[in-house]
Amino acid sequence: MRKINVFDTTLRDGEQSAGVNLNFEEKLEIARQLERLNVDIIEAGFPASSPGDFRSVKAIADTIRGCSITGLSRSVQKDIDTTWEALKGGVEPRLHVFIATSPIHMTYKLKKTPDEVIETAVQSVRYAAKFFPHIQWSAEDACRSDLNFLVKIIEQVIDAGASVINIPDTVGYITPHEIGHVFSYLKENVRNIDRAILSTHCHDDLGMAVANSLSAIEHGAGQVECTINGIGERAGNASLEEIAVALKIRGDYYNAETRLILNEIKRTSSLVSKLTGMVVPNNKAVVGANAFAHESGIHQDGVLKEKSTYEIITPELVGVSSNRMVLGKHSGRHAFKEKIKELGYSVSEEELNRLFVAFKDLADKKKEVTEDDIFAILTEERVAT
Ligand code: KIV
Ligand code: ZN
Repeated sequence: MRKINVFDTTLRDGEQSAGVNLNFEEKLEIARQLERLNVDIIEAGFPASSPGDFRSVKAIADTIRGCSITGLSRSVQKDIDTTWEALKGGVEPRLHVFIATSPIHMTYKLKKTPDEVIETAVQSVRYAAKFFPHIQWSAEDACRSDLNFLVKIIEQVIDAGASVINIPDTVGYITPHEIGHVFSYLKENVRNIDRAILSTHCHDDLGMAVANSLSAIEHGAGQVECTINGIGERAGNASLEEIAVALKIRGDYYNAETRLILNEIKRTSSLVSKLTGMVVPNNKAVVGANAFAHESGIHQDGVLKEKSTYEIITPELVGVSSNRMVLGKHSGRHAFKEKIKELGYSVSEEELNRLFVAFKDLADKKKEVTEDDIFAILTEERVAT
């Protein structure tokens, strides 16, 4: 199986979520948990963007020993110097330097010609290579860039010293089929691509970030950039937990795996949710409260007989203690009987019939029937007999 490097950008792109502002201690706590999760690279922030970011990136680089730490930098010497100062105490200091390559960004934002963009990119990588052992170069808005221009600039930044080439879908525009083509094209046409790892970095504006990341992996990406719970600019980034679990469960298809300790996923998700204040929707894949909950009678009956009927992921895989049978109006006798047993009661079939009628009656009036409700039904019905 191909090993895919996981580059977590929760503390940089994730923190760019509207309304999120993590303090120094919170960032360190998240970094420690990312180390437990065993991500390969932590993007700890953007050191030149503020003194606070500099301080937290430096503290993370000086503290975390189990992952490589990186920081974002524009293609200017001042940013690169500041990033080096923040990262130099880390295990494998890694610069993440970027410049936009799409016609829209080059014309309106940078006001530079394509040749000027190439020159700036090459100069910044060459400058950084004097002191950084690892350099990742990103083509911002790559997925709306001209492919042949990408080939040209990538060849030159690799020659200048970049060892990771990141292809961001900055505005979440591309489709899975198209991004597959981009990665295949770069693999086939960049003359020195064997000297670099291709990386994917997808945003979720059209809800395709995870599918796009997986397609990029399928077509040659050796690194995937993502955030916990998919937080990030606008609609967010590709969600780490969904990609990791998809690779695990569908390893037969992707033939690729990560080094993540998957049973740290739920704990990491909860921590990030708590510290950022960004609530995880109940129906979110892998980490949502309902990800392992079964409500309908048919599903509950199936799962009680054999879990694999309706569960493709075991809750334990991602650090959730067990699945959950939610008792509601769609639930059947089988789950109801199990719950009664679990609560320590043994009832005859005749009693069960009567209790089940009372349960269904209540379930019609409530979203979820709780254990307390069931105790109440048991008490009332038994008192009545
Ligand atoms: O989305 C993006 O283009 C980025 C880059 C700075 C890597 O976050
Ligand atoms: Zn991004």
